[in-house]
Amino acid sequence: MHGSWRHTYGKQYWPPKISENLSDGRRGGTQGCRAERTVASVDGLRQESRPTAIYKPGNYLEPLNWQAVFGREAPVEIDVGCGKGAFLAWAARTRPGHDFLGVDRQLVRLRKVDRKVQRHALTNVRLLRLEFSYLISKLIPNASVSAYYIFFPDPWPKRRHAAKRLFQPSFVTELHRTLCRTGIVNVATDDAPYFAQISELVNASGFFRAESQEVLPEEAQTEFEKIFLAKGQSIHRARWRRQAQGIFP
Ligand SMILES: C[S@@+](CC[C@H](N)C(=O)[O-])C[C@H]1O[C@@H](n2cnc3c(N)ncnc32)[C@H](O)[C@@H]1O
Repeated sequence: MHGSWRHTYGKQYWPPKISENLSDGRRGGTQGCRAERTVASVDGLRQESRPTAIYKPGNYLEPLNWQAVFGREAPVEIDVGCGKGAFLAWAARTRPGHDFLGVDRQLVRLRKVDRKVQRHALTNVRLLRLEFSYLISKLIPNASVSAYYIFFPDPWPKRRHAAKRLFQPSFVTELHRTLCRTGIVNVATDDAPYFAQISELVNASGFFRAESQEVLPEEAQTEFEKIFLAKGQSIHRARWRRQAQGIFP
């Protein structure tokens, strides 16, 4: 079924060019939020600042400080592989009291999300271009995220590519470590074998218990969800709540 999955899922961009700099290089300390970029004019003399939600950490080695990233203290929700951001923009609009981080390895997609963020004047969104396995294992602090949305993660259907899948035992441990006490993981995929593997990993970990789905309106659909629904394909969904168990009670 996924012989041509790249046709739907698209070209992979790897490695991410985390050194690419959208901002003017001003640094507000290691946790400083540089959610602003500067665009040079043709003659290079005049510079204009445009708002952007694209965030570049002061460094990529120390855990993020959410209060510094968002400029306030609020529950943090993360859209993993946010793509073009239809869900992210909807969630941020409908829950202004929460902060939302959209993560994707493709800058071109984040720029599209950024335009949505600016169009809706959303102040509770930040966008980060980074490989998510790195972000979660190195930069996300313990018990600091209230929800993850992992919608249509790349399925990597070939056996020899299985190691590239996001969901691995260590990834499930990182989800548990970084979620708040009653945090939630939401998953959706069109790929039945990957869904079976994800369910087995999460359930076997003992870190989560399955919950019933949240019913979301049509406007919350992601871009990939719309594509699969239009093709009449089934979508597999799950929602797990973190349990206080294991090394991180
Ligand atoms: C199939 S698309 C789904 C996009 C969106 N969630 C949706 O449902 O429309 C997967 C997205 O995840 C991003 N992605 C895949 N693996 C990633 C990783 N390890 N770290 C960050 N982004 C990743 C891809 O660049 C792509 O934008």
